[in-house]
Amino acid sequence: MDGNGRWARKGGLIRLKGHESGTQSVRDIVEAAAEWGVGHLTLYAFSVENWSRPKAEVAALMTLLKKFLKKERETLLKNGIALRGIGRLEDLPSSVLDTLREVEKATAHGKKMTLRLALSYGGRQEITDAVKALCQDVTAGKVQAEEVTEDAIACRLYDSEMPDPDLIIRSAGEKRLSNFLLWEASYAEFVYSDVLWPEFRREHLLQAFQEFHGRVRRFGKVLDDTPSLQGETN
Ligand code: FPP
Repeated sequence: MDGNGRWARKGGLIRLKGHESGTQSVRDIVEAAAEWGVGHLTLYAFSVENWSRPKAEVAALMTLLKKFLKKERETLLKNGIALRGIGRLEDLPSSVLDTLREVEKATAHGKKMTLRLALSYGGRQEITDAVKALCQDVTAGKVQAEEVTEDAIACRLYDSEMPDPDLIIRSAGEKRLSNFLLWEASYAEFVYSDVLWPEFRREHLLQAFQEFHGRVRRFGKVLDDTPSLQGETN
């Protein structure tokens, strides 16, 4: 959700106003995604690297997050949206974590869509944490070294029920992965939008979906019937 700061600067506002305004985009995108049948939506709201932003901005983001969770709780419940946090959630201030846990519990039965907020999230950290958990199980004799498979790692990621993303959308013209879902994004399609996050609305989500539907996903396979070798017939 890039571009909050740039949006604020453009309007001569402080960065916090950009984040506040970005919350409106979050509402619209979550609502549209649920309406259009998206089963899983993950928003990269706060990365492990974001802790090194100015203290006041971090504090303001945490306050905004808590306010959002409290404010949207009923709407999520009413619309059958289950909310979950992924990341090193134990790093969050305790009052934010308590609120998150409460909303997770209250909305757990939501069937329409699962909305994940990546908070204190880093892809490398997620893989490291999963590998650490796996090593502990190996040491305890619960897992044999031969049983260390992709699945053994995948099921120890922050949310084992989260499917790999089909599509990753990045706003504000950025074209990097920035430590997001490194394991899970292996075969994700990427769509980049120049729109700053506070201006990103459902029409931009729809454009991203249209671009995604135009993609041919081969998952490393050959899909046409061009012979691979001289004289070969498929
Ligand atoms: C990146 O833009 C954005 C963030 C680090 C925070 C995202 C937070 C929100 C959209 C609001 C709160 C979220 C929820 C889920 C309630 P930036 O600050 O790096 O902007 P810039 O690239 O223009 O500087």
